[in-house]
Amino acid sequence: MDIPLSEYLNTALQVAVKAGEVVKDAFYKEKDQKTKESYADIVTETDQAVEKLIISLLQEKYPTHRFIGEESTAEGKKVEWTDAPTWIIDPIDGTANFVHSIPQTCVCIGLSINKQIVVGVVHLPITGQTYSASKGSGAYCNDQKITVSKVKELKKSVVITEAGNSRDPQILATKMSNVHRVVEASHGVRMIGSAAVNLCMVASGSGEAYYEYGIHIWDFAAAGIIFTEAGGLLLDPAGGEVDFLSRRVMGACNQEIADQLSPLLNHIEFERD
Ligand code: IPD
Repeated sequence: MDIPLSEYLNTALQVAVKAGEVVKDAFYKEKDQKTKESYADIVTETDQAVEKLIISLLQEKYPTHRFIGEESTAEGKKVEWTDAPTWIIDPIDGTANFVHSIPQTCVCIGLSINKQIVVGVVHLPITGQTYSASKGSGAYCNDQKITVSKVKELKKSVVITEAGNSRDPQILATKMSNVHRVVEASHGVRMIGSAAVNLCMVASGSGEAYYEYGIHIWDFAAAGIIFTEAGGLLLDPAGGEVDFLSRRVMGACNQEIADQLSPLLNHIEFERD
């Protein structure tokens, strides 16, 4: 018997809240930190403990399901994403925010079936905002339905992006020149520090677009369905469909904004995950 998406969503919400309690508890304490691919790519013991907790709670309920987790994906290892029901987890998106006691840090839990994201929860335990969506049922922040902005001109828009974790000089130079052109063409650019929070903000009408190069599927799978259910377009920054393994994304509140933003960007190519 097919399980309704609402049941998966409720489970994801319960698990995200439990995981959020652990994050919240650790947020106000001294944090340990290790680095991954660069000195700006940080992981803490809390990231690892929270991912284990989320996987064990979901596994108990859905023993045949698969998992893609930020901390359990070995560095440089290809992501094995199949048609099977797969929970895609970022235990703490915005780890640098977490480490530096900036509240925009969240637990992300998404579910894909046939490689389509069908459920997403982004829970910010410090601010108390919980974004959620399931395919076809709209997007919510706590109990409030959310929708994207109606602005159609880039020069009347705010765009969110991130410098990301790479400290490769060429990559950074390209990202900064992109920011320069977007600032010139808009009301401004913001960097909040979490891909998932960025998408949820634009999903709620706070800003008109978000783009980033260098992210991974766990950073934006859960937020991606929240974004599209709020009426946003999730695309490749060069236009066309988003590819969750290509390490780049553009979320725009409408096609007009996407069409004005895309040509301003030098599109960075990463090896697919
Ligand atoms: C990071 C955040 C950040 C983005 C990085 C991500 P993490 O995720 O989403 O905003 O710029 O590309 O890796 O490491 O905090 O889970």
